[in-house]
Amino acid sequence: MTTHSSHPLGIRTLAVHAGQAPDPSTGAVATPISTASAYSYGDFDTGEQRFSGESPGYLYSRFANPTVAALEGKMAALEGGESAVAFASGMAAICSTVLALVSAGDELIHVGTLYGGTEGVMRNLLPRFGVRSIHVAGVEQLEAAITPKTRLIFAETPDNPMLGIVDLAQTARIARAHQIVTVADNTFATPCLTRPLSLGIDVVVHSATKFIGGHGDATGGVVVAGKALIEKIRGVGLKQFGGCLSPFEASLLIRGLKTLPLRVEAASLSAERIARLLNEHPAVTTVFYPGLPSHPGHAVAKRQMSRFGALMAFELKGGKAAARAFLDSLTLVTQAVSLGDTDSLACHPASTTHSAVAEDIRRQYGVTEGLVRLSVGIEDVEDLERDITQALSNVNIV
Ligand SMILES: Cc1ncc(COP(=O)(O)O)c(C=O)c1O
Repeated sequence: MTTHSSHPLGIRTLAVHAGQAPDPSTGAVATPISTASAYSYGDFDTGEQRFSGESPGYLYSRFANPTVAALEGKMAALEGGESAVAFASGMAAICSTVLALVSAGDELIHVGTLYGGTEGVMRNLLPRFGVRSIHVAGVEQLEAAITPKTRLIFAETPDNPMLGIVDLAQTARIARAHQIVTVADNTFATPCLTRPLSLGIDVVVHSATKFIGGHGDATGGVVVAGKALIEKIRGVGLKQFGGCLSPFEASLLIRGLKTLPLRVEAASLSAERIARLLNEHPAVTTVFYPGLPSHPGHAVAKRQMSRFGALMAFELKGGKAAARAFLDSLTLVTQAVSLGDTDSLACHPASTTHSAVAEDIRRQYGVTEGLVRLSVGIEDVEDLERDITQALSNVNIV
């Protein structure tokens, strides 16, 4: 990508062009899928230099791959980071990041609510390797939880599934004063709505399976940070754990990224309308959407998000039976986990995404039996509103 002025490129331009240029050997405009598992270094000395890191160049697809590198370049540009590394899934990205940065005897603090899989890593996996993970409900409790052993602070914002907002600038300020590395899971917001690195966060992680791919047909993960941190994470996550992204998936994710700003804007605008509809409906007790002034994180969300996103959760009167009646009545919105797709998706977190989280922790987070999570897609909003309204009419609220 060549630019003709010092004016910074807009996010739509970056989504289309960053990380990619026509293939020098064929002129192919779309990045070719490079299927080779090994890349010839030609002669003995070049091989030795590449393996020692003295000279650049591809060697082996688990370490780095040209198609995957195009995705990494695009993601680094979109997040405003120096470097990026892609993984086979969001969980591979998260585990590789955490395990590259902590050792036995260290402590990690996670702020707010987390996706069930990440929650399992924090509460069950890390303690088995001598890493203590401490949960705090919000940034207000962060300072008191820090000890000389704290190495990492991890937060999702907006979080899954409660849409809680963590003040990233405040988190970064506290962490920097103690020289602690901060990691933000930006899956829900995407760089279109929040850029954690510009707020002082050190590392951004993504489930690329969600908005980045955007079409529900590719699984992947990405980490964006400074060069030194990325090399450390690449070393552990790819060279050692081997959780590399397939170039086929990378190609789908690159294609998805080209329309990311358009999709996120369209879905966010629809979500704002649907959140208001739900908020006024008698079958709904509470809507968790950062765009609503009643949301406890609204003021922070207004500061750190350019729109409020496509995700929301809401509590139905009547608990699990009401959630079942609502979800089973949907005709256009699909019952499925995952999120950030072109298609609107809805699920019941207590029995799906967060079913492996211990019941007392689920309760503490507010993941009740009546809670439904909705990922708004890019369909016509009037059609979504009609489907949701007719499904709500089947919820018995007496
Ligand atoms: C916020 C968040 N982070 C990470 C993940 C894990 O990503 P993946 O399913 O791609 O491994 C998910 C999955 O739902 C998620 O919602």
